[in-house]
Amino acid sequence: KLGKLRHRTPEETPVVATERRMKTFLLCGMDAEVNTRKKTFTEVQTERREQAERTVLIKCPSRVNEKKLLQYLSSHGKINSHFFFENRGIHALIEFSEKSSVASLQDVVGIPKAVEHHVVPFKSRLFTFTLKNPVAKTAEETPVHLSRQSHIPVNELIQKLHQADSISSQMYILLNEYQLTEENIKLRFLACSLVQDFARAYFPDSTVKPFGSSVNTFGKLGCDVDMFLDFRDTQEHAAKMKKGPFEMEYQMKRLPSERLATQKILSVIGDCLDNFGPGCMSVQKILNARCPLVKFAHQPTGFQCDLSVSNSIAIRSSELLYIYGTLDPRVRALVFSLRCWARVHGLTNSIPGTWITNFSLTMMVMFFLQKRSPPIIPTLDQLKELADEKDKHIIGGYDCSFVSDLSKINPTKNTETLDELLCDFFEYFGNFDFRKNSLNLRRGKEVNKPESSPLYIWNPFEQDLNISKNVNQPQLEKFVAMARESAWILQKEDRTQRMINKEPWGLAALLIPFGKSNTNKMRRTKGMGSETIRSLLDSLKLSNASNLQKAVGK
Ligand code: GTP
Ligand code: MG
Repeated sequence: KLGKLRHRTPEETPVVATERRMKTFLLCGMDAEVNTRKKTFTEVQTERREQAERTVLIKCPSRVNEKKLLQYLSSHGKINSHFFFENRGIHALIEFSEKSSVASLQDVVGIPKAVEHHVVPFKSRLFTFTLKNPVAKTAEETPVHLSRQSHIPVNELIQKLHQADSISSQMYILLNEYQLTEENIKLRFLACSLVQDFARAYFPDSTVKPFGSSVNTFGKLGCDVDMFLDFRDTQEHAAKMKKGPFEMEYQMKRLPSERLATQKILSVIGDCLDNFGPGCMSVQKILNARCPLVKFAHQPTGFQCDLSVSNSIAIRSSELLYIYGTLDPRVRALVFSLRCWARVHGLTNSIPGTWITNFSLTMMVMFFLQKRSPPIIPTLDQLKELADEKDKHIIGGYDCSFVSDLSKINPTKNTETLDELLCDFFEYFGNFDFRKNSLNLRRGKEVNKPESSPLYIWNPFEQDLNISKNVNQPQLEKFVAMARESAWILQKEDRTQRMINKEPWGLAALLIPFGKSNTNKMRRTKGMGSETIRSLLDSLKLSNASNLQKAVGK
């Protein structure tokens, strides 16, 4: 039966497949990640934030002499790392090994002369480097290596996927092209650190921390930077003070609600970025949203940023996804491929609406991986059982505790290839009873839907909320139809023939919009009779259109 057809090269036993996967993974330049893999989320975040505080960003002339620039900067202290990138001109990110070097540099940096414009004298860590005297031609011509900050377009990716020998290696190629690079991550943390400089002008104890896909291991080059202002450290300090025989507290402005305080803080910091922030453009204050935020474009780093105030649940979601993404290399490869697939077919969109969000789609993949036999990732309840005292987090009455030490989690015994997983994902959700069931990641089980939203994915931490409440019936139907079509393509294609003909195969065939793809043509040229088509559809439990509607609850 077609449903069971698998494409594995003859020598590919599960063990061989796993070995190859790991090899590709290492070849993809992920060595650093493998080495640092066992660090906890908090350790990684703290380290990166501290790095960012010792970092400056310098706009350079188009032909910069790298050696001379570094020599000049070294007089302020040792440089730990640096890289150049293009973003409306060449920029250099310089990470000093001591924070004092930044202050030393700031001490000697000049203030631009107000010729046409008047400058706001806020001294940031963004500088412009110019040469007083024209340098010798030879020095001018030394090109600097520019680190890439965006991913290749899908059509170029599809070309690259031809080089692969299996869907699994195609998925690792995609991951390697799309994932955030070390440099891009540094730039994201720098953007947060620069915003933090503004926040600290009002609240010296505050921290600006990134969350969402910049830190959860599922970020794609070009995705937005979600950041939030954290005052938690201030609260911890207050708790310490209460230990003595006296009590002394700050006199503070009192407001009728936390929401109002959030709105006021964001409003002022939004104005500050708008009025004084070098390179902060299109600042939009969206204070009446469920989660009030300030949106802006940070031109020097090139990021679209969303700033909100302490969102403890969101940071727990980021850490949970970080754990899942770090446990097994297949997790990220599958998520990246499916996010790309969903984007190509218009199932997700960068503007909010009734479609599935990347966050919901990622949770669907996690749920699917919990349901494998044996499971590839543990359920949230299992992670909670492994938690110790320091992992305890009760937020707004919800128990958000789970283990942070990755070495306490047993590696999976599952050796399925990504070829199998990708196809089964489409089959699984192509046939999922969305009308009746919801996805519960805490238990790793399908459970009856508590209410009638078309797609119900339990918020893992606030158990009475549905993270995909925004998804409407037509969008869910489209998702199911695309999943079925994709399963069908993967199961029926003659891969060897398509490789020989240099036609898109495997993942590449799924990344071409179906209306335009060669699949319809293929169906015609193969001259399949309606019987053949019917049996194919039967194998996918898609014998007629009403089945699809029934499954999604129409
Ligand atoms: P990108 O599409 O790559 O930006 O993915 P993302 O995970 O960063 O998503 P997004 O920027 O939309 O949201 C940032 C974070 O906010 C997510 O990672 C979640 O932690 C949280 N979040 C977003 N949408 C929801 C939602 O509907 N419910 C809940 N509980 N959290 C959400
Ligand atoms: Mg995001």
